[in-house]
Amino acid sequence: MSRPTGSHGSTSPAGSMGSTGTAGLAGAREAAAEAAVPPGSPMAARVVDAAKVYGTGDAEVRALDGVTAGFPAGRFTAIMGPSGSGKSTLMHCAAGLDTLTSGTAYIGGTALGELNDRQLTLLRRERIGFVFQSFNLVPTLTVAENITLPIDLAGRRPDTAWVDALIDVVGLGERLLHRPSELSGGQQQRVAVARALAGRPDVVFADEPTGNLDSRSGGEVLDLLGRAVREMGRTVVMVTHDPGAAAHADEVVFLADGRLVDRMAAPTAERVLDRMKAFDGRQPSRPGDGRHGSAGGSAS
Ligand SMILES: Nc1ncnc2c1ncn2[C@@H]1O[C@H](COP(=O)(O)OP(=O)(O)OP(=O)(O)O)[C@@H](O)[C@H]1O
Ligand SMILES: [Mg+2]
Repeated sequence: MSRPTGSHGSTSPAGSMGSTGTAGLAGAREAAAEAAVPPGSPMAARVVDAAKVYGTGDAEVRALDGVTAGFPAGRFTAIMGPSGSGKSTLMHCAAGLDTLTSGTAYIGGTALGELNDRQLTLLRRERIGFVFQSFNLVPTLTVAENITLPIDLAGRRPDTAWVDALIDVVGLGERLLHRPSELSGGQQQRVAVARALAGRPDVVFADEPTGNLDSRSGGEVLDLLGRAVREMGRTVVMVTHDPGAAAHADEVVFLADGRLVDRMAAPTAERVLDRMKAFDGRQPSRPGDGRHGSAGGSAS
């Protein structure tokens, strides 16, 4: 049901990144990972001196404490760090879902802080896609309607060839008239990824998109995000606690205590796990399991 790796629809703007021939995705991944991002590469999203403070006085939490980070266009970046280290905050502020206390967030060349509410809403609609841990599909709509919902809400005409190519990539062509409750978790999340990509956004932000999935379904979602980058030329920024998931990215940025503490190109699960252990000498914690990292002011 899935197309051969390395081939892509005529609507794909992948350019050279998609021309992997028989080497397929693995070859493309290695090539992309080995090629360091040249200085001056365009950034799809970026934050400069980003600070986010919640609460005041004794209740004050510095969720972000001077983070400067860029997410290169056409790349897959993972964000990792202990629970409470500021990953979701960084993603929400970079995506214009929340505002910084100080510093600047950019989508492309646009500084989000300079936009009014209406402009920000339009920018989010047209240039950004989101995938959340809890799939957030509309239960009363079909798969097809869920996928085109953001385009419909924006009053735009769907690019049918692109949407068809997406449906092909997510492998849910036979499920288009089903409702979310009739799908597995992995299938629902694949719909959510297709929805995030449907409007051809510049950048897709995904906050623990595999957090509620078993490893097989999670793997399908990660493959899909990888294909969005390598075959469709999109930019993906993904928060994850899973070193195996992070290994799908071209680069991992590590947060601790609201600060960017490291970046790793061409990550492997083993290297990411080693790096995570170095945070506090423990395995990476998962939200809700009571094993929080050493981040001060964490939610524990
Ligand atoms: N709305 C809020 N009000 C007050 N504090 C908040 C709020 N949102 C987040 N925080 C705090 O900011 C810090 C960073 O939270 P954030 O959700 O970004 O962490 P995270 O790295 O995504 O953690 P997790 O891995 O558990 O999802 C935490 O200490 C958290 O308690
Ligand atoms: Mg989070």
